[in-house]
Amino acid sequence: MKTNVAVLFGGKSTEHEVSVISGIQAFCALNTEKYNPLAIYITKNNEWYVGEKIGNIKAYTDLKALLADSTRVLPVPSGDGKVELLCYPFKKFGKSTVAQFEVAIPVVHGTNVEDGTLMGYLEMLGVPYASCDVTSSALGMDKAVMKDVLKRAGVPVLDAYTFMGSDYIADSEAVVAHIESTIGYPVIVKPVNLGSSVGISKADDRDALVRALDTAISYSPRVLAERAVGNLREINCAVLGDSEEAIASVCEEPLNATDILTFEDKYMSGGKSGSKGGAKSAGMADLKRRCPAELPDGMTEQVQALAVQTFQALGCLGVSRIDFLNDKQTGELWVNEINTIPGSLAFYLWEAAGIPFAELLDRMIALAFKRQRQREALTFSFETNLLAGAAAGLATGKK
Ligand SMILES: Nc1ncnc2c1ncn2[C@@H]1O[C@H](COP(=O)(O)OP(=O)(O)O)[C@@H](O)[C@H]1O
Ligand SMILES: [Mg+2]
Repeated sequence: MKTNVAVLFGGKSTEHEVSVISGIQAFCALNTEKYNPLAIYITKNNEWYVGEKIGNIKAYTDLKALLADSTRVLPVPSGDGKVELLCYPFKKFGKSTVAQFEVAIPVVHGTNVEDGTLMGYLEMLGVPYASCDVTSSALGMDKAVMKDVLKRAGVPVLDAYTFMGSDYIADSEAVVAHIESTIGYPVIVKPVNLGSSVGISKADDRDALVRALDTAISYSPRVLAERAVGNLREINCAVLGDSEEAIASVCEEPLNATDILTFEDKYMSGGKSGSKGGAKSAGMADLKRRCPAELPDGMTEQVQALAVQTFQALGCLGVSRIDFLNDKQTGELWVNEINTIPGSLAFYLWEAAGIPFAELLDRMIALAFKRQRQREALTFSFETNLLAGAAAGLATGKK
């Protein structure tokens, strides 16, 4: 029997639209001989929709019409590791179940979804899912905490000064003075938990720094500042696997038009829109890049080893992309960030490594079931009469 695989995309995130592209790419690439693919669109209000057109990128040009043509659903755990989708509002008569699925592939990007939020929801639903768990997703989204964990694991990261937006509002001069004395110029300022270069700027002097800080604090309650790497080369490498076994893809060098790889560089530089409704040549897959990256001797292997080390230090599962900063002159290399659900699931890096998109998804699904089996072997409950005792305690007011 074929497995019902739900591909979830969208959600309340600044990277909503990019996720729609990535999600539909994955939906279209699933092997239909093995799976019944089910596309689930999560609106910016976190409402779930299914329907014939939900997996068609062209339908998203008129969202209102798309939603009117689709069915809003509520997921409920069916108790046997599956999720049932009930149409909402419920039908007065007849069956409300619209579809069901046994495994989910979250293809969401950004805060409020990729940061462990959706994973926590899937945990509550009790269904296996092919991505990082709650903890590693949250770690991956918080650039400051991620650096701390990686530093301890011996992975090279740039030191950063992290502060609350409220600290900056209370005493902006102190924050500016601290950055100037500990980091200097040029400096990069970024919200700790956003993606797609949103809210990130480089500052070469105090005026620019103040502008950069004002921008960053408007996006996130916590902000970090770190030195801007000169002679910059960016290198990305994806990793597939789990904490027991993981492999690295080929490395790519994204080629940016400006100092900072912008949202436009990443998602709009190609100009082509989706092919065959699948949008395979849009989104991250369209970024101008050199693939494989042309790196000095030994650096590809170094990047691949650090990518796997990063993936496993953060406890990741499925496919993630680890992004590096490299000073071309000194040869220094730092892990800049991890994307626990990379744009386009980084399928183009796996294709270049000899793993077609459909096989990448196969492996991700297998990893989701593997984690589920491992968890089932753990003890999550034990018989106890604690509540009976607590009830007696409550009656007498004891704790
Ligand atoms: N320390 C740095 N030095 C130089 N450029 C940087 C630095 N940090 C980020 N950048 C530039 O900004 C871009 C976006 O930053 P990044 O940390 O990757 O955030 P995002 O999660 O938004 O992708 C990077 O791709 C790079 O071009
Ligand atoms: Mg980045």
